[in-house]
Amino acid sequence: MEEAYEQGKAKAIGVSNFYPDRLIDLDHFVHIKPAANQVETHVFQQQKVAREVMQKLNTQIISWEPFAEGKNNFFQNPVLIETGKKHQKSVTQVALRFLIQNGIVVIPKSTQKARMKENFDVFNFTLSEQEMKLIATLDTSHSLFFSHQDPKTVEWFMSMVK
Ligand SMILES: NC(=O)c1ccc[n+]([C@@H]2O[C@H](COP(=O)([O-])OP(=O)(O)OC[C@H]3O[C@@H](n4cnc5c(N)ncnc54)[C@H](OP(=O)(O)O)[C@@H]3O)[C@@H](O)[C@H]2O)c1
Repeated sequence: MEEAYEQGKAKAIGVSNFYPDRLIDLDHFVHIKPAANQVETHVFQQQKVAREVMQKLNTQIISWEPFAEGKNNFFQNPVLIETGKKHQKSVTQVALRFLIQNGIVVIPKSTQKARMKENFDVFNFTLSEQEMKLIATLDTSHSLFFSHQDPKTVEWFMSMVK
């Protein structure tokens, strides 16, 4: 990737699922630093420590699964519903706005045009400091999916590239 970058074939190098320990290691040994790192980030896994490390390394955090793939009753979350009512916004719009106001790049996925429009419509309102603090309490600091540090997960991934 560094060769591709130096030959002008790539504008930037991005990585995914680099936890703080691995990102610090990678950053130390490469000469073209990762511009972005996509990791699981949503209201239930806010990646506070990882964000601090990425900020220090000048690597932009990108969220994958910003709606937690609906897990943990995401779409029915009372804090997100009530906050949304105050701004006439949906649960997804509040969640995206929360991530954006925390400096997180979001790439929500939808197969439906109306929802894509809804997900873009988040730049005309601002969550107050109090609302940000309230949503911050939803953080569990744990993955809703799996740990990339669990040997079983790594074996499962490896079985796909054999
Ligand atoms: N790097 C990685 O390891 C990694 C891992 C997982 C995912 N990702 C990436 O992260 C991106 C998002 O992940 P994801 O799609 O799995 O999870 P997600 O964005 O958390 O959730 C997408 C789900 O939410 C629904 N949705 C979207 N907008 C909505 C709205 N406004 N109202 C209600 N429901 C809505 C979608 O259904 P409809 O399509 O029916 O609207 C879809 O089922 C993808 O581009 C994916 O490739 C990366």
